[in-house]
Amino acid sequence: MGQLSIWSFPTRIVFGAGAAKQTGAEAKRLGSKHALVVTDKGVVGAKLLTPIEASLREAGIKWTVFDGVLGNPIEANVHEGVRAFQASGADLVIAVGGGSSLDVGKLVRLGIHHHRPLAEYDDAIGGDQHITANVPPMLALPTTAGTGSEVGRSGVVTLDANHRKTVIFSPHLLANAAILDPELTRSMPAFLTAATGIDALTHCLEAYVAKGDHPMADGIALEGIRHVGRYLERAVKHGVDLEARGGMMKAAMMGAVAFQKGLGACHSLAHPLSSEHGMHHGLANALCLPAVCAFNAEIARARLAEVSVLLDGEASP
Ligand SMILES: NC(=O)c1ccc[n+]([C@@H]2O[C@H](COP(=O)([O-])OP(=O)(O)OC[C@H]3O[C@@H](n4cnc5c(N)ncnc54)[C@H](O)[C@@H]3O)[C@@H](O)[C@H]2O)c1
Ligand SMILES: [Fe+2]
Repeated sequence: MGQLSIWSFPTRIVFGAGAAKQTGAEAKRLGSKHALVVTDKGVVGAKLLTPIEASLREAGIKWTVFDGVLGNPIEANVHEGVRAFQASGADLVIAVGGGSSLDVGKLVRLGIHHHRPLAEYDDAIGGDQHITANVPPMLALPTTAGTGSEVGRSGVVTLDANHRKTVIFSPHLLANAAILDPELTRSMPAFLTAATGIDALTHCLEAYVAKGDHPMADGIALEGIRHVGRYLERAVKHGVDLEARGGMMKAAMMGAVAFQKGLGACHSLAHPLSSEHGMHHGLANALCLPAVCAFNAEIARARLAEVSVLLDGEASP
């Protein structure tokens, strides 16, 4: 196992190759006896649960796997997960996967003691006021490097009523700890690496140019962009390059910490492409980002020029 680092901003983050083997110890810290692993069939098929299950076994913690999450998750995924949590007698959610699994994991926690229809928790209508701290604990183990949901406060789900991708947001939904193991992202194919990497870039870039005074988010966004410039192409071309994989996991994490400042038109345009056409979220961002940057250039030229320098060493004309 490589060297592990522990960071708290604000989530406790365990980072390093082999970090998944800490899952049992982290679950124990939270007092768990039985965990519900929330994931999808692609993650199970890629055998990414193996080190996690070994670690839980070693720590004497029982677990049940719920692998019913879909890409661009829908309400039914959350309800099935809640039923699986209750039926198994779990006391902890361990979400393992891309943003889809991590988001459903958060919303499963919400569904245990919060019984309104999901639409009433929609952030766009102030639904966060109904979300209390009464949620079971959660560990998040990302297997993609893009959404940063492992350190984010929101779960995104497509609602039945309006087919809209809906953000459910509350600080109470932050994972109790995130375990970032670059080895879990090594099996991502080139397309998924690129698409999720552009999601991370878009989070950093939109946060940096968003209106508002948030110097800490700005600083983190710039460092995230620097990481994307340094590592994304390497990770796409050489998927086994663990340093590049780790660099992109850091970029994704920094993007989601930074976008507490705000996002922008690119994400607004990307969401309907996913909910209406099933397009991968990162690809949807990649398609929209050039036009959004061109649109914003007039008022955000100085900041976009800084981004350009970080990405390729040159200011755009
Ligand atoms: N909560 C947030 O703040 C936030 C931010 C951005 C996006 N999102 C949401 O996250 C979702 C997208 O998440 P995503 O881009 O991580 O993709 P994803 O979770 O939908 O996964 C995409 C596919 O990749 C597979 N996969 C995952 N890890 C793999 C690995 N290591 N090896 C091989 N295959 C693997 C999965 O099985 C799945 O089939 C969207 O619903 C989006 O709206 C949430
Ligand atoms: Fe995103």
